[in-house]
Amino acid sequence: MTIQMQVHTRDSPDYRDSGLEFPADFIIGAATAAYQIEGATTADGRGASIWDTFSATPGKVVNGDTGAVADDHYNRLEADLDLMAELGLEAYRFSISWPRIQPTGSGAVNQAGIDFYSRLVDGLLARGIRPIATLYHWDLPQTLEDAGGWTNRETALRFAGYARHVAEALGDRVAVWTTLNEPWCSAFLGYGSGSHAPGRTDGAAALAAMHHLNLAHGLAVRVLREVVPRAQVSVTLNFHVVRGHDDASGDAVRRIDALANRSFTQPMLHGGYPADLIEDTAAVTDWSFVLPGDIEIIHQPLDFLGVNYYSTTRVRAWDGVSPREHADGHKNAGGSAWPGSESVEFVRQDGPYTSMGWNIAPDGLEQLLLRLSAENPGLPLAITENGAAFEDEVADGRVRDEERTDYLRRHFTAAHRAMQQGVDLRGYLVWSLLDNFEWGYGYSRRFGIVFVDYDTQERTIKDSGRWVARLIERHAIPE
Ligand code: FCB
Repeated sequence: MTIQMQVHTRDSPDYRDSGLEFPADFIIGAATAAYQIEGATTADGRGASIWDTFSATPGKVVNGDTGAVADDHYNRLEADLDLMAELGLEAYRFSISWPRIQPTGSGAVNQAGIDFYSRLVDGLLARGIRPIATLYHWDLPQTLEDAGGWTNRETALRFAGYARHVAEALGDRVAVWTTLNEPWCSAFLGYGSGSHAPGRTDGAAALAAMHHLNLAHGLAVRVLREVVPRAQVSVTLNFHVVRGHDDASGDAVRRIDALANRSFTQPMLHGGYPADLIEDTAAVTDWSFVLPGDIEIIHQPLDFLGVNYYSTTRVRAWDGVSPREHADGHKNAGGSAWPGSESVEFVRQDGPYTSMGWNIAPDGLEQLLLRLSAENPGLPLAITENGAAFEDEVADGRVRDEERTDYLRRHFTAAHRAMQQGVDLRGYLVWSLLDNFEWGYGYSRRFGIVFVDYDTQERTIKDSGRWVARLIERHAIPE
């Protein structure tokens, strides 16, 4: 396994090529997630999720924003489907809200919840847009959190039950499934740093959550195989492209790579946890949460691997004396997202940056795709999220977001380069279709290729959205 990734310097391509073509069967679309767009959080029997609770807790989300209304997508479904058709999306990746399907996380199905996603799926198919369903994008039913959430093994079993209900209801029409979105965030930001719901700050809890999310994934893959045997099944991971700040950073890179990446890829794709991860975290947990048989459950064949990529990460060994940087790209809410790696310092990287403060590094995407491809021969890849937040405004009915278009152009170019080097990349979904509730940042960060006016709910296709539409139409990177 390659631990240290090469940094392009003099020979770095500028990633601004236009005219590059994608194969006819390469799927280009956009992604969203339930809590970020739906609103209607108390409608039609939906139960509370950990994000309802967290966002209602003072100080947790910028401006005290919550997902109560969001983009009101729940009530504007038809118009939003028409918008997707106008952009020409070939695929739409959405997530299903567990508390809409099972308000308390177990037991009988709430039919109104199923009906909503059924209408969404039918509306997509009627418009020739391929549905890609994610079972879990962070909105755990609050009742399950009250019983320990992802630190409780039982939650993984509940997830399998929920997956079965959804697969039975939608499996006749949804051919592509993702179990979990970015379980690293659920475990390490949710239970470690505390910057995401449920906001706990306990390294041992984060590691237990990591394992139970892995287990939930494996159990859900089994359920999907059984209920929808012809489906394509995947998981979406957020990979950290970790770069060393200097020659002495090798151990820091290895530690963060283990916690951020191999903590999920190793058990899911290869079986077992990395020995160095277990060693690094020995003072935090004894790993007794791994029971006999778990590794076999987690290690399931997948049809493709979903890759979310936004920027790179730079680390070095902390000398223990100088003020420590915390530039890991996530709000620090008192705890640490990196249990057992207190000796690592996250170093602010060179710009340019997006309005998240994330550095723009398309070469990181190319390297990541090459690495994943080399490490997992025969496993196709798909980019399930990539995009950027910038400050947008509507002027004369237009949003001139050149920076976002430039970001997308560079990253599509990077993906194309990786494909030319043999990477089996099947598709690319832009984050996000709509401006939406950006978790701890509330509505203060806009990732959409469609602008949303939160006062009127009016949608305006941004220039970047028009660019994506041209990209899809030509299947080539536009001028
Ligand atoms: C990813 C999340 C997605 C969105 C983007 C910006 O980590 O999966 O919901 O917030 O970041």
